[in-house]
Amino acid sequence: MINLEEKKLLIASHNEGKISEFRELLNFFDVKIISSKELQLPEPVEDGISFEENALIKAKSAAELSGIVALSDDSGIEVEALDKRPGIYSARWAGPDKNFVFAMSEINRMLDELGAVSEEKRRACFVCALCLYYPSGEHEFFVGKIDGKIVWPPRGKYGFGYDAIFLPDGLNKTFGELTSSEKHSWAIDKVGLSHRAIAFSKFAKFLTKK
Ligand code: IMP
Repeated sequence: MINLEEKKLLIASHNEGKISEFRELLNFFDVKIISSKELQLPEPVEDGISFEENALIKAKSAAELSGIVALSDDSGIEVEALDKRPGIYSARWAGPDKNFVFAMSEINRMLDELGAVSEEKRRACFVCALCLYYPSGEHEFFVGKIDGKIVWPPRGKYGFGYDAIFLPDGLNKTFGELTSSEKHSWAIDKVGLSHRAIAFSKFAKFLTKK
């Protein structure tokens, strides 16, 4: 049975933004958070073919190298008309300069080329797969998904990545127009809005029922 009896959790990431977002989402729990970056663990090659596989590669590598329970995430945006691209390649579409203005305009250009003008042809979703991995090899996945559509031009000054072109179903603000607390709106007893918050809600439920 998986639990966090050592009260220590390793965030399997070298990305400062992601580490601080994890800290924010985990501050309800009485666990000491450390990261692969702090421990200077090498970064594994992410050559999985799904969000879950990539999350597993990161968490397994970190847990095996450190001997500490590790939590990782892999996330991205899937555009239906583009056969779910960029998907697991969402970060890579922005190139080494992390040019998301370019990556967002590529999505729009490809949709325009397909003649995907109407809202139903611009369906997309954000996905987040979390993997909790124990040095013993036991592991669990927690997946969150939020549906919406691609809008153009980009809207909003908040967020990162593809936030400014993603309009979640049921809201008239893009992720880029929502503050971080509105976007995640997560609490221990409430399922949040974003794909990451939904995955975290599942993770929290799993931990608290232990
Ligand atoms: P990862 O670090 O390999 O998981 O890369 C995830 C990539 O997906 C990020 O670099 C962003 O481009 C994109 N992404 C994931 N979640 C979000 C989000 O909440 N908003 C905007 N972009 C996101």
